[in-house]
Amino acid sequence: MIVYLNKNYSFIEDACISPLDRGFLFADGVYESIRTYNKKLFHYGDHLERLKRSLAEIKIVFFDFDSIEKIIYTLIEKNKIRNEALVYLQITRGSAFPRSHKFPESNINPTIFISVNNLESRKDKLNKGIKVILQEDLRWLRCNIKSTSLLPVVLANQKAFEEGAEEAILVRNGLITEGTHTNFFAVKEDTVFTAPLSNLILDGITRKIVLELCSQQKIKVKEKHFHKDELKNFEEFFITSTTKEITPIVQIDDWEINNGKSGAVTIKLQSAFTELTEKY
Ligand code: PDD
Repeated sequence: MIVYLNKNYSFIEDACISPLDRGFLFADGVYESIRTYNKKLFHYGDHLERLKRSLAEIKIVFFDFDSIEKIIYTLIEKNKIRNEALVYLQITRGSAFPRSHKFPESNINPTIFISVNNLESRKDKLNKGIKVILQEDLRWLRCNIKSTSLLPVVLANQKAFEEGAEEAILVRNGLITEGTHTNFFAVKEDTVFTAPLSNLILDGITRKIVLELCSQQKIKVKEKHFHKDELKNFEEFFITSTTKEITPIVQIDDWEINNGKSGAVTIKLQSAFTELTEKY
């Protein structure tokens, strides 16, 4: 696999970062996951905008945005990506010695790393749906920043895996926020509910697209938090993300929803989403 690191293309085995990199020492960095449809980067502008926002929030000064798109397409070509590509892009504050919590006083160059890989088909999960578990949201209070500091969600997602589930849905003070790497939606009486944008969730790009599709399909939307004890009042659930698209949830902990079948509103949104991506 060929990757891009700090102005160089190289085999992944030869791509090295300093042990002093603040991404390694402090998780002092941000990232984006972007995908292609029909070999074209999907909503690249939205990802770039969110990347710029995340960098600004943590005060990393990075200028070289203009070359990123071309680098990604070069990587797709160099790696002979056959189907669709998943792109991982990370920028850290860079490396400085000695290790110090505060930002380095001299100007250091941020580290930029980009990799691409083949996206595997998720048709089965999109059709059949997945199991999720509920987990306490142990993250910090700036979840709107796409930070590489991911330990709380790594642990929650691992717990889900150990319980035969695909995702953990996070609960803060009883209220549902989002998944470990997805946004969470519930449906009741043909109305779609999801947590409002705030510092408690990531402003998912797929979330935004789904809300636009709801408006086009005349499906009502309520962006409001709801309590985990209210879950049983809802009829359908799904998660969204760049990689998970719109994945139906058919089981939450031990509760099998709708006899393990995807709901009608979820299916309607999935087909509108497929139509959109096929045309992209
Ligand atoms: N995750 N919420 C969280 C906490 C996320 O990490 C993500 C994205 C989302 C969905 O955002 P989007 O629709 O823009 O992909 C919501 C990516 C895919 C990841 O961690 O790789």
